[in-house]
Amino acid sequence: MAEFLLNEQSITQGLSAGMVLLDFLRTEQKLTGTREACREGDCGACLVLSGQFINGIMHYQPVNSCLLPIGLVHGRHIVSIEGLNGSQLNPVQQILVQQGAIQCGFCTSGLLMAITAYLLNAPNSSRVLAQDAVSANLCRCTGYAGIKRALKKICQSFDLSQSRPAERVANLIQWGILPAYFADIPQRLAALPEQVCLTEHTAIQVAGGTDLFVQQAEQLAWQNLSFIKQPESIFIEQQQCIISATTRIETLRQSEYMQALYPQIVDDFKLICSLPIRQQASIGGNIANASPIGDLSVFFLALDAELALCSPTTKRKLALRNFFNSYKQLDLQADELISNICFHCPEQPLRISFEKVSKRTHLDIASVNSAMSLMLHETSFKQIHIAVGGVAAIPLYLEKTCAFLADKKITSLLLQQALDIAQTEISPLSDIRGSAKYKRLLVRQLLIAHWLKLLPDYVSWEDFL
Ligand SMILES: Cc1cc2nc3c(=O)[nH]c(=O)nc-3n(C[C@H](O)[C@H](O)[C@H](O)COP(=O)(O)OP(=O)(O)OC[C@H]3O[C@@H](n4cnc5c(N)ncnc54)[C@H](O)[C@@H]3O)c2cc1C
Ligand code: FES
Ligand code: FES
Repeated sequence: MAEFLLNEQSITQGLSAGMVLLDFLRTEQKLTGTREACREGDCGACLVLSGQFINGIMHYQPVNSCLLPIGLVHGRHIVSIEGLNGSQLNPVQQILVQQGAIQCGFCTSGLLMAITAYLLNAPNSSRVLAQDAVSANLCRCTGYAGIKRALKKICQSFDLSQSRPAERVANLIQWGILPAYFADIPQRLAALPEQVCLTEHTAIQVAGGTDLFVQQAEQLAWQNLSFIKQPESIFIEQQQCIISATTRIETLRQSEYMQALYPQIVDDFKLICSLPIRQQASIGGNIANASPIGDLSVFFLALDAELALCSPTTKRKLALRNFFNSYKQLDLQADELISNICFHCPEQPLRISFEKVSKRTHLDIASVNSAMSLMLHETSFKQIHIAVGGVAAIPLYLEKTCAFLADKKITSLLLQQALDIAQTEISPLSDIRGSAKYKRLLVRQLLIAHWLKLLPDYVSWEDFL
């Protein structure tokens, strides 16, 4: 049973763990301010805040309630638009009205949730950060100009740099943005009982739920679900970076270690899902859903990562490149889970590149994606790993191309030859994301893009004309 706080109210009734929060809010609680639109995590209309008390600080983040099963909200403070409303409009709501950021109003409650999350989390007042924070909120009416004006005004009105994270809730209460009851939430959360967590290996395993619950909420509501509760962790041990499978994509993006290893992760990973989805979606779920265009699968294939798989009675390790058998078929037993993903951290700097081409640059899945990591010894490749997605039934490690390049001196002729070998390894299909011919061209161009980024002293774009 999940127990949590919804706005000011304690929720303790027995609920189906598989019912999504959106349905609970609208149908059971009649809190219809949270909107229902795509039910796929794409539009942001259903955003609510999810708060957890971690290390003495309340952390609130926006979540897509259409994809969040009740079983995952135990011990949290869930805030719907009704939980922000007071007797009159709060200052942020007033700015939205004044700046013409509202027309039909359908997107407004989700937008307000995203802006409130920005005010709760951003280190300083920045229009760029504010716009990033609402990038998952679609608005059909305003053309976004009014929303941008409102964000500018909000940034001018509230100086976040003067407020430390631990004081942020108190400051927002002081500014009249959050109602006063938020002050008591930490004590009330602490009084909730621990969740009784039964891991049933015959049940459907749910990590973040962002893949399982897309358009399937009704079917899953009454099924036997088990919630994977392993904590998130990223650590280095004996030159191995070990990442627990439950680590969320945004946690990976924010990880200091990953940023030191691969500074572009901050920008590159903005191309993966929207912020609310990245904050919910786990790496293990991204790999296990076995999508041929899964961005994390491709990224970790290019790090030549290994999976630790465990069942109640067994433990084994498996190279990620051997995990995908055929379309959506994995080397994973029915009672096994991915417990962690690990890759070797060399003493020498690793050069890493990630590229993704989609119909839309942001908030879209890939037509073709690719990642590469390499290490040099003098003017030769010491090691190179290349992965591509969207050009085969599985996320593909380019085995022949990597073997061809390993230990060879870098020349433009060598790279040209490698491009030809890569073409023999892929088997793209024509579909809604592009023709097979187009995808072949993309693979060529993405490999060149990696080399131009990673080997600027060795090659230039003229070499590939
Ligand atoms: C709006 C939207 C946009 C998206 N955009 C992108 C994108 O740009 N790029 C991209 O790559 N992906 C994208 N995705 C997919 C998203 O990354 C995946 O849905 C997510 O990573 C899955 O993780 P989860 O924790 O939510 O998995 P869940 O939905 O909980 O589970 C997914 C599957 O994995 C299994 N599973 C989960 N954890 C484990 C484990 N530890 N061991 C074994 N099996 C496990 C589950 O049983 C289930 O079969 C998008 C999804 C949405 C909804
Ligand atoms: S209803 Fe569109 S994101 Fe949830
Ligand atoms: S105001 Fe109508 S969808 Fe945004």
